[in-house]
Amino acid sequence: MLTLGIESSCDETAVALVDGGRLLGERIASQVDVHALFGGVVPEIASREHLRVLPGLFEDLLRETGVSVDDIEAVAVARGPGLLGSLLVGVSFAKGLALSTGARLVGVNHLWAHLLAAGLERELHFPALGLLVSGGHTHTYLIRSDCEFELLGRTLDDAAGEAFDKVAKVLNFPYPGGRWIDNLASEAEPDKKMFPRAFIDNPSLDFSFSGLKTAVANHVAAHPELVMSEMADASLLEHVVGPRREQLAEMCASFNWSVADTLRIKVERALKQAGKVESLIVAGGVAANSMIRSFMTELAAKQGIELTLPGLGLCTDNGAMIAHAGERFAEAGYAHDLDLEAIPRGRVVPLDWHGPDSVCRR
Ligand code: KG4
Ligand code: ZN
Repeated sequence: MLTLGIESSCDETAVALVDGGRLLGERIASQVDVHALFGGVVPEIASREHLRVLPGLFEDLLRETGVSVDDIEAVAVARGPGLLGSLLVGVSFAKGLALSTGARLVGVNHLWAHLLAAGLERELHFPALGLLVSGGHTHTYLIRSDCEFELLGRTLDDAAGEAFDKVAKVLNFPYPGGRWIDNLASEAEPDKKMFPRAFIDNPSLDFSFSGLKTAVANHVAAHPELVMSEMADASLLEHVVGPRREQLAEMCASFNWSVADTLRIKVERALKQAGKVESLIVAGGVAANSMIRSFMTELAAKQGIELTLPGLGLCTDNGAMIAHAGERFAEAGYAHDLDLEAIPRGRVVPLDWHGPDSVCRR
């Protein structure tokens, strides 16, 4: 079913067209440079940028793919969780398009879309244990099918990506900082005693990363020589050499290890509770992290289950994952009315679609 996907939940504006599980084309405009000046996403600026660039991206996508607007059968849009003002831009655009063309409107849970994204690259095998690690969320799910997700665990405070970004901010690294910490971490062995792995000595499947973030901030306060003198860019980081670089790399590796090992412990615990699953799906921006990818690879091998990791381009926010999830939902018979609501971060995304009762039919 020819499906348009629209993503505007945070600081990426993206559109994509998918048909029969195949990506026809995509356009993405990142606002990272705009927000980098502030060291984090400024919601008001994000909404205005989405409003400015979304129509142009859509026109470019149609031109690039040769698809006519009337050929679009379903309009899928990220309806939450995310920044409310940003979501409203994508949701309003989607409603206008659905109204004018008669295409089916499908509101997509952004978190589910991350976890289904790898389905564009290969077949997903269910039931699966899903780990979503992004800038705003750290969730584990039991995924029974494309359309059936059961939340098992979630962060009680900061998300894993938030911890990466806040640690990077303390060090004056470029925003968003996860990638830079990952790069430096690959140059050193972690000191496993340097930072805590919070909230692991209990049976809970929930996560907590704010204590780790504070521990790193305290460490950095005690070692001010680690902090970049001005907001670093990639070239400035290259010029950090010698013992200072080694110290910085060891700190990044130790922090990265604490996050990766916490995720490993909790996912292993979730796998035990979930019963038999066919695969482990790891998704979201932080799934690009090399240590986390290698820990999850080892864990899946140990458990004898398939590991599904999307390619790096599908890890961070994109329109293709929204189009793909939307097509799966639409083909299963689900749709939303024009009163579809945008759901801000912190609120549970409701299952308020119309379609076959709870069972997903393909
Ligand atoms: O999924 P995403 O694009 O946006 C949200 O929906 O939040 O994730 C962005 C997050 C940021 O926190 C960024 O620092 C983190 O993903 N990230 C990484 C890496 N690449 C991106 N974190 C650790 N290691 C990386 N290589
Ligand atoms: Zn995301």
